[in-house]
Amino acid sequence: MPRKPAKPLWTSPLWTRIDRYFGELLAPSDEKLDSAIKANRKARLPAIDVSPLLGKFLQILVQITKAKRVLEIGTLGGYSTIWMARALPRGGRIVSLEFCPRHAEIARGNLRNAGLLNRVDIRVGPALSSLPQLKSSGAGPFDFIFIDADKVNNPKYLQWALKLSRRGTVIVVDNVVRQGSVVKAKSSDPDIVGTRRCLEMMAAEPRLSAVALQTVGVKGLDGFAMALVIR
Ligand code: SAH
Ligand code: DHB
Ligand code: MG
Repeated sequence: MPRKPAKPLWTSPLWTRIDRYFGELLAPSDEKLDSAIKANRKARLPAIDVSPLLGKFLQILVQITKAKRVLEIGTLGGYSTIWMARALPRGGRIVSLEFCPRHAEIARGNLRNAGLLNRVDIRVGPALSSLPQLKSSGAGPFDFIFIDADKVNNPKYLQWALKLSRRGTVIVVDNVVRQGSVVKAKSSDPDIVGTRRCLEMMAAEPRLSAVALQTVGVKGLDGFAMALVIR
């Protein structure tokens, strides 16, 4: 009998169970979050929204940093946007950049339904066009920046994030592990190259103090990097 190949560790049902347990306890869904996820699946958006616990984590980070101006790169259906928008103080705003008009439309619907559309400005187009426009129109500095779009451009997004920052801005970059591909030596996948280059820039940039953490759970093995602008 041929032996079944060993399951990779990060698909362990135990880790998924723990993530579900923590999620249901600490990041419980509600009608608005639920209907956003339902709308996203119904519209067949890729199921790459942040997990509930990562959404809650972003929400708490927005609160800790007392952010009033948040920049998100990569809106999808606005699930992460809802978590962050709920943490904003009165007058707080999120600018969220999205390449795909259809994604942006679905996100607007979800945010409207959640009563948050008045706090969110979704700009449609390639982020590398929207970012210079933001800068030249005098937007920013942002207090909190969440980078979660096409990973190949992460080095450029990090540079723009720095231009749109001040001392004390916190920058989070999602999906820096992606089932471990970040350390697989010969990866020529442009997304992996972009992720590595972005991490190297975070390490080398004297304006940043950075960290990266791996996560396991409902989305398998992944992780995020976080940087504080220190000067
Ligand atoms: N932050 C979302 C998930 C974002 S998925 C959440 O957690 O709910 C990544 C999104 O980035 C997709 O909607 C994709 O269309 C968008 N994207 C990809 N390339 C982009 C680009 N060059 N500029 C702006 N958005 C882009
Ligand atoms: C992918 C993108 C994401 O933002 C994510 O959270 C997970 C996966 C992807 O492009 O595969
Ligand atoms: Mg992501």
